[in-house]
Amino acid sequence: MQERIKAILQMEPSPEPIRAEGWVRTKRDSKNVSFLEINDGSCLKGLQAVVDKEKFDQSLLDSIGTGASVVAEGPIVASQGGSQKTEMQVEKLTLVGACPQDYPLQKKRHTVEFLREKAYLRPRTNLFGAIARVRNTMAYAVHSFFQENGFIYVNTPLISASDCEGAGAQFQVTTLDLNNVPKTEDGKVDYSKDFFGKMANLTVSGQLEGETYATAMKDIYTFGPTFRAENSNTARHLAEFWMIEPEMAFCTLEGDMECAEKFLKYIFSAVLEKNEEDMEFFSKFVLDGVVDTLRHVIESPFEHMTYTDAIKVLEPNNDRFEFPVKWGVEIQSEHERFLTEEIAKRPVIVTDYPKDIKAFYMKLNEDGKTVRAMDVLAPRLGEIIGGSEREYRYDVLVSRLKELGMNPEDYWWYLDLRKYGTVPHAGFGLGFERAVQYVTGVANIRDVIPYPRYVKSCEF
Ligand code: 4AD
Ligand code: MG
Repeated sequence: MQERIKAILQMEPSPEPIRAEGWVRTKRDSKNVSFLEINDGSCLKGLQAVVDKEKFDQSLLDSIGTGASVVAEGPIVASQGGSQKTEMQVEKLTLVGACPQDYPLQKKRHTVEFLREKAYLRPRTNLFGAIARVRNTMAYAVHSFFQENGFIYVNTPLISASDCEGAGAQFQVTTLDLNNVPKTEDGKVDYSKDFFGKMANLTVSGQLEGETYATAMKDIYTFGPTFRAENSNTARHLAEFWMIEPEMAFCTLEGDMECAEKFLKYIFSAVLEKNEEDMEFFSKFVLDGVVDTLRHVIESPFEHMTYTDAIKVLEPNNDRFEFPVKWGVEIQSEHERFLTEEIAKRPVIVTDYPKDIKAFYMKLNEDGKTVRAMDVLAPRLGEIIGGSEREYRYDVLVSRLKELGMNPEDYWWYLDLRKYGTVPHAGFGLGFERAVQYVTGVANIRDVIPYPRYVKSCEF
């Protein structure tokens, strides 16, 4: 019988031989036996495989070191040692792939910076194994949550000709010869010669296309890669990240916020339930108390605050900030952290931001100055969700586009949704990596995605 090591570790001792496949994390020798710790990524702990030196060729044992891939077979017996309940009494041992001494992951604690340079090997460490498993649980929970609530999963395009956020932070997609770019008579790039016959980019959000499905199927969600060419060299920005974007028709900002809060609590709970051992590891080695914090967040309601009230709270503390605030300015991460860490001591949903600092598609409030936006801010990280009620009134949307110097014709199909059976609708986007960061306590977003892409970095 062959099992993942997680299952083997839960077995009772039995004479029936079990087969374990994995990579050697450590090898310890005593006079008569060798102890191999074999890990296959299914859980944090490895299987202790006890090899009786008398029964095996010394040269085989010598050739098995840290990093080697092996197959070990034998019964599971009660362990003599203290740190594990059971171990394997090895009867058959096969070296599948040897691992020479220059293996970068020797038995010592490596810094995350070092491991980032060895990103192709880092899932073999305790930390990155635990992150990968938690990320997996969260991805599964994202689907479970929406599927259990009747949402339809929609795959929106990654190559897009419209700029959802209007922030100009897009990566261009082109097959034009960059050494010989075709030009129009007035000297501009002639995109009619490009692959799509027009300028195209990697998507910054699936929202606009998501709205087209929500206004047919009521509740939908997307979950996919998102690209932003923001020149932000921070611990919470990536050029390629994963975003979850639900969109709900016949729904206003209140329903949107309720959904966001339930959704976050659902995925946090899933991790506490399924990744107990990994979470203990994060609490011990990454961020003290991360499990308790998460439990507290799940149990208490999120705080709500309008942008205007947030500014009132922040302004008297301006001397503490690098960027002092006043009504109308963007709330930056230092302010987000102040609101969540010092004021609310839990996640805060800030609503009704000034229209000038938010995207064109958000519903204009009656004051004509603010929009029905909501950001969910989390302690340590700041914004993890951005969402809004959408402007569903045709005329208002057209004038918003014009006001922002955008061409309504470029959004003709998006505007048509407001012409044909328009309906109040709302949605949000959760940055998946920020959520993984929050749950694990990992400080840098580059460590919660297998292969981070950021300014001047596209290795592996
Ligand atoms: O606030 P954002 O820009 O909102 C949207 O894209 C909307 N279209 C969402 C919607 O209403 N459907 O981005 C949403 C979230 C942010 O709150 C943040 O968590 C994450 O995406 N995010 C990033 N994560 C990592 N790296 C980046 N460069 C990110 N930019 C945004
Ligand atoms: Mg945002």
